Amino acid sequence: MRVLVTGGAGYIGSVCTELLCDRGHEVIVYDSLWQGHRSAVDPRARFIQGRPFEPGNIATMMAEVRPEAVLHFAGDILVGESMQNPGKYFRNNVACSLEFLEAARAQNVRKFIFSSTAATYGHPEQVPITEDAPQRPVNPYGEAKLMFERILTWYHRIHGLEFVAFRYFNAAGATERHGEDHRPETHLIPNVLKVALGQKPHVEIYGTDYPTPDGTCIRDYIHVVDLVEAHILALQPGICGFYNLGNGGGYSVREVIAACERVTGRRIPAVEKPRRPGDPPRLVASAARAMRELGWKPRWPALEDIVATAWAWHQKYPDGYPD
Ligand code: UFG
Repeated sequence: MRVLVTGGAGYIGSVCTELLCDRGHEVIVYDSLWQGHRSAVDPRARFIQGRPFEPGNIATMMAEVRPEAVLHFAGDILVGESMQNPGKYFRNNVACSLEFLEAARAQNVRKFIFSSTAATYGHPEQVPITEDAPQRPVNPYGEAKLMFERILTWYHRIHGLEFVAFRYFNAAGATERHGEDHRPETHLIPNVLKVALGQKPHVEIYGTDYPTPDGTCIRDYIHVVDLVEAHILALQPGICGFYNLGNGGGYSVREVIAACERVTGRRIPAVEKPRRPGDPPRLVASAARAMRELGWKPRWPALEDIVATAWAWHQKYPDGYPD
């Protein structure tokens, strides 16, 4: 299948490109490299450097590439930044995504797969969270992702476009070649591993007074390869709609740090800090729908196994990608 991967130089997009190439798909990566790394793009894929804000350039690219499916990973991902600069999130995650969607529709692309987020649920009333739980985002990042989910629904109803929107919980882990290298890095597991590598003196714990057993936030960590496998399954014809992707188990910030200590065999000092604005206390997925309808089954549900793959990557590439 000829597949366009936007954001293929980023964390999840680069892993997806690797797995699609492994299975013999023809992959075209489109990435602005504002955040991604050129060296993260699998050499088996064709690379096109995007300039998203020039009107018409996405439509021109789509007409030239003529993919059968689009996997749209490109986007901004920082909840905190979205509280400071909401316009960036509505522009890049809604307006720019719409350019890709409209261009895909014009080329009769069969399937559009979109990276949505658990942040569309806001502060959930119940965990594990099912797909029909109320969506009340508490930050512009989640709001923008929800707006685009709704746009997808209308394109399906009106144009018959088949879409899948995956609501990611906390992606973590690595393959041998591709791992997590955000600059700046705000995510918990890579920050803890940087302490284990001796690159930082301690990890900061954002909030110890949450209504959870140890007072720190609980998240559902999912191996990036398991996450990507769901996207590959979703390429099958007839799969359409919204799916959570998580393991259905939650780990607190302190439990993550303890797991990283066990995996690395190194002590990881932590400093308690105030809460980070916009963090819900507990996000845990029910991924029963993905399992039932896609036949998806995570292969690395255990946190220590996920951390071990991230640790192997960080040890191999202590400074991340060269660019
Ligand atoms: N945390 C710390 N110290 C750190 C980094 C994070 O204590 O140095 C805490 C956070 O406050 C949070 C937890 O660890 O409670 C996880 O934080 P991450 O930044 O790793 O991930 P988030 O849960 O904030 O966000 C991630 C993605 C979002 C996505 C969300 C959905 O980055 O894009 O998961 O659950 F929307």
